[in-house]
Amino acid sequence: MNGDKRTWEHTFAFIGAGNMASAFIFGLVDKGVCNPGDIIIHRRDASKNGIYLSKGYHICEDYVRTFSTSKFIFLAVKPAQLQAVLQQLASSGADFSDSVFVSVCAAVSCDLICRWLGCKVPVVRVMPSTPITVGLGTCAVSHNDLVPKKDFQLICRMFSAVAEVSVIPEDMQNAVISVNGSSPAYFYLFVKAMLSAAEQQGISSSAALPLILKTMEGSAEMIRRSACSIDELIRAVSSPGGTTLAALKVFYDCGFEKTVADAMKACTDRADEIAGALECS
Ligand SMILES: NC(=O)c1ccc[n+]([C@@H]2O[C@H](COP(=O)([O-])OP(=O)(O)OC[C@H]3O[C@@H](n4cnc5c(N)ncnc54)[C@H](OP(=O)(O)O)[C@@H]3O)[C@@H](O)[C@H]2O)c1
Repeated sequence: MNGDKRTWEHTFAFIGAGNMASAFIFGLVDKGVCNPGDIIIHRRDASKNGIYLSKGYHICEDYVRTFSTSKFIFLAVKPAQLQAVLQQLASSGADFSDSVFVSVCAAVSCDLICRWLGCKVPVVRVMPSTPITVGLGTCAVSHNDLVPKKDFQLICRMFSAVAEVSVIPEDMQNAVISVNGSSPAYFYLFVKAMLSAAEQQGISSSAALPLILKTMEGSAEMIRRSACSIDELIRAVSSPGGTTLAALKVFYDCGFEKTVADAMKACTDRADEIAGALECS
């Protein structure tokens, strides 16, 4: 941390150690971005920390110590739990002036974090995805105007090891949940539907699943590498009068693209609703 005013004991403090936090905690270490000893974790139920203790992560039951020893303070509790966490922090009287808060809490703005904390602090807002656990996640990141450029660049570099990182304006953070935060569930649902349809045709799950998963990976790679548009790639597997067109006709007739658009809009509307309720709390 060159140029910092103080020496930090840990790079990251995690408040919350659930699904999303563990994805980062294990992902960052697996990719060699940091060591378990660089991470300190605070959660409600210390009895769930066995896995972290066995791997050499620091566990801390004292809020203030957790926060005051780490440069980057990761807020990884549920949005509805965050106000209480930040207000407890605020009441500790701790000095956050050198810290950078990194929030993965959906629908919670940088301004609201500062309001709950009772002071303006640097905040990086991230919409991540759980495949970070396997080094194939995504992070849509924004920041408020107090985050030093070098700290933001450092965060983006570290996240790049475990995720595809896109920097977006903060006012797009609610909408981006539908693109990368919630979307693993859409793909899981699609795979589940394909598996069940394969079984209905007599193909076992054990035979179908590897074929479906490799096809998903391969299709993603084709989109990434090919000079063709997505429409051209669809046409490339759609012989006139053939099987693919027969299947695509069913998708189009059922309004597949509209269903996807409606689902993503419902996701964003819900994020806006949650954000509105949190702003009023
Ligand atoms: N899951 C996803 O796919 C996803 C994707 C994008 C963004 N997010 C965001 O990630 C955040 C966390 O979601 P999650 O799915 O990881 O939730 P989760 O699995 O329920 O984890 C929440 C964590 O917060 C801890 N916690 C709650 N109150 C606390 C308090 N007062 N002090 C300290 N720790 C406290 C819990 O501790 P205990 O375990 O000890 O109870 C738990 O470890 C949410 O804000 C969500 O919007 C999640």
